[in-house]
Amino acid sequence: MSGEGLIAEPRAVHPQSSHGIGHARLKELMHRGTEFLGCTHAILGGAMSWVSERNLVSAISNAGGFGVIACGAMTPELLDTEIAETRARTDRPFGVNLITMHPQLSDLIDTCAKHQVGHVVLAGGLPPGGAIERIKASGAKLVCFAPALALAKKLMRSGADALVIEGMEAGGHIGPVSTSVLAQEILPNVARDIPVFVAGGIGRGEAIAAYLEMGAVGVQLGTRFVCAHESIAHPNFKKAFIRASARDAIPSVQIDPRLPVIPVRALKNREMENFAAKQREVAQRLDEGAIEMAEAQLQIEHYWAGALRRAVIDGDVESGSVMAGQSVGMVTREEPVAAIIQELIDEAATALESRG
Ligand SMILES: Cc1cc2nc3c(=O)[nH]c(=O)nc-3n(C[C@H](O)[C@H](O)[C@H](O)COP(=O)(O)O)c2cc1C
Repeated sequence: MSGEGLIAEPRAVHPQSSHGIGHARLKELMHRGTEFLGCTHAILGGAMSWVSERNLVSAISNAGGFGVIACGAMTPELLDTEIAETRARTDRPFGVNLITMHPQLSDLIDTCAKHQVGHVVLAGGLPPGGAIERIKASGAKLVCFAPALALAKKLMRSGADALVIEGMEAGGHIGPVSTSVLAQEILPNVARDIPVFVAGGIGRGEAIAAYLEMGAVGVQLGTRFVCAHESIAHPNFKKAFIRASARDAIPSVQIDPRLPVIPVRALKNREMENFAAKQREVAQRLDEGAIEMAEAQLQIEHYWAGALRRAVIDGDVESGSVMAGQSVGMVTREEPVAAIIQELIDEAATALESRG
């Protein structure tokens, strides 16, 4: 697609050959990551609900990265179709991201096992009992999010095969700590023992090179892939990304201290106010005893899924949620996934080469 106002002319050809010293060094630094994922570049396309479906996921894998399907609130039947359709579009490896609080998590794990998905990413909190064992029994490698060093160690003991550390610069649901601090706290302590991928706020290859030098084996990017040609996001959603700068991607605010809500980073719009009203409504039902805390939190999650769908699929970028990371300021045009990945790789290689 190509929406009005999107800048789609190709970027300048990169002068550097892919056989230079920088590229060789980059390959070496990514080696554990590419071995683990089974792809050419250790760049994961972070799962994004409604966006990371068959087209974008297969395009990322076909370009040498590693695409990840966002299961989000999909039923096992929908996930079954999505995996089959993705496989029809690529013969390269890709993964599936499951949210731990999904009520049908074990059926979703079975769906992944049926398709022999090689990598399952568990997001949304500590996995419930049995989930890790069942994923590993299927032969899949398990990737978990580690929001703190203690949890990274716990996940390693529980059987995680790799970790993603995602800082609060990221789009979507976020933790409280920045990527740079998480990287300093976690990488020196665990990176020798388990492959770690760094996510959140990465918009250029120079940052990739820096995290690799700190011990990461690869990176995960979401925001940079939203405006890929192959992304099915609505033209309005893409235009909002192209126009936005880093400071427009703000975290949601928790209205009621009794209702802990995981913040979401999105472009500021009318929807942010609607979310405050939604929180007040759910908190009141909690007060009245009409719902339990778990139900209250689930209602908030369903609210987000609906709001994101309105923006990504229907193009309503005012009353829908335009989830975006701070790296949105570095998204300046719509272009093919292969060009985005090549540019990131060339920038990383040039940065490494300049170190001498
Ligand atoms: C629109 C959007 C939707 C997202 N949905 C999910 C999701 O469903 N599950 C998940 O684990 N992460 C989700 N994320 C986070 C991404 O997988 C990824 O970790 C993040 O975008 C990386 O940070 P960046 O946006 O700074 O590149 C989402 C991010 C965005 C921008």
